[in-house]
Amino acid sequence: MMIQNDRFLRALRREPVDQTPVWLMRQAGRYLPEYRATRERAGSFMALCQTPELACEVTLQPLQRFPLDAAILFSDILTIPDALGCQLSFVDGEGPQLARPVRTPAEIQNLLEIDPEQELRYVMDAVRLIKRELHGRVPLIGFAGAPWTLACYMVEGQGSSHFKRAKSLLWDEPVAAHRLLRHLSRQIIAYLSAQAKAGADALMVFDSWAGALAPADYHQFVHPYLSDIVRDLKRMHPAIPVIVFAKGANHALSELSRIGADALGVDWGVDLSQALRLTEHRVALQGNLDPSVLYARPESIRAQVRLCLQSYGSAPGHIFNLGHGMNPDMNPEHAGILVSAVHEISRELRAGQQLA
Ligand code: CP3
Repeated sequence: MMIQNDRFLRALRREPVDQTPVWLMRQAGRYLPEYRATRERAGSFMALCQTPELACEVTLQPLQRFPLDAAILFSDILTIPDALGCQLSFVDGEGPQLARPVRTPAEIQNLLEIDPEQELRYVMDAVRLIKRELHGRVPLIGFAGAPWTLACYMVEGQGSSHFKRAKSLLWDEPVAAHRLLRHLSRQIIAYLSAQAKAGADALMVFDSWAGALAPADYHQFVHPYLSDIVRDLKRMHPAIPVIVFAKGANHALSELSRIGADALGVDWGVDLSQALRLTEHRVALQGNLDPSVLYARPESIRAQVRLCLQSYGSAPGHIFNLGHGMNPDMNPEHAGILVSAVHEISRELRAGQQLA
């Protein structure tokens, strides 16, 4: 189906656009009262993810409120660990819990292969339903967690501040660690490929904990797997853009721009002007407003949006986003102000020849 608003896809190809496309990480989430109502009906976060009609409903909610330029599948990165048998649940206020973590070389050795159309069929059904209900209004982003970030949750069994067990595994049992990361890479490739076949228009890989590792460990345990995932996806689906978001790993932007990804996500730890220099226009960039700007006053939000657009400047290939997800206590009206500001200010800067 033809996509009516294709600004997001054009920016991913680094083609000129009339106004800078924008979407927000975790645009469907607890900051929206309509999301909280649907989640209540679902009974739990996992039930919401596993019921395609409800996942579709919450995917579309932010688009009904704001003129966003992309939809993102409503799901979670932890669907893969769950399908691998870790028994995921979300305890209110405590975040994700995996009842059966994977810690020893033997447990890693015994991990099974996932068939995404079997164990994760609910995700593929959600993608197909969302595509139907979108009627081609905007593109749909499919996503997965990256191997290192998934390994963190699988080894720790929950969120973590120091990654004691996950990092120790890398250093104490490097062979088993590489086996786990390799296994996860294969599952992620199959999962994202299945999402593309089900209709996703772009794919994004979230490596939320890439920045928790020192550069040398990043080179050993993160980068090669991101590179494998992108290479295989681009071979299988050359026309589907791939976005890689290695949060906190701005030291790796230059290298990451060479693995064949169409775009890199950027957090607010680096100016977009600097990120452009580091990536030498090899990729589009998605980011990078500090999400906490949404707690500030409307005039401040508009001023910060302007600075972010100006920092990227006149080159094509900017997709506006936050440097991380929306928080539950954010004001939906402020999200609306942000989205309008991106469109209006980017148009104005283009008219003044300051942006392409
Ligand atoms: O962006 C979107 O709107 C799409 C949906 C999406 C969710 N999670 C929904 C969600 C996406 C892309 C994710 C990715 C995700 N999940 C990441 C990578 C991005 C990041 O934030 O760094 C990570 C690390 C996770 C793991 C995870 N899932 C955490 C840490 C939590 C928070 C737990 C909490 O209580 O805040 C979740 C749950 C989750 N995933 C929620 C949403 C809307 C909140 C759950 C709820 O309704 O209570």
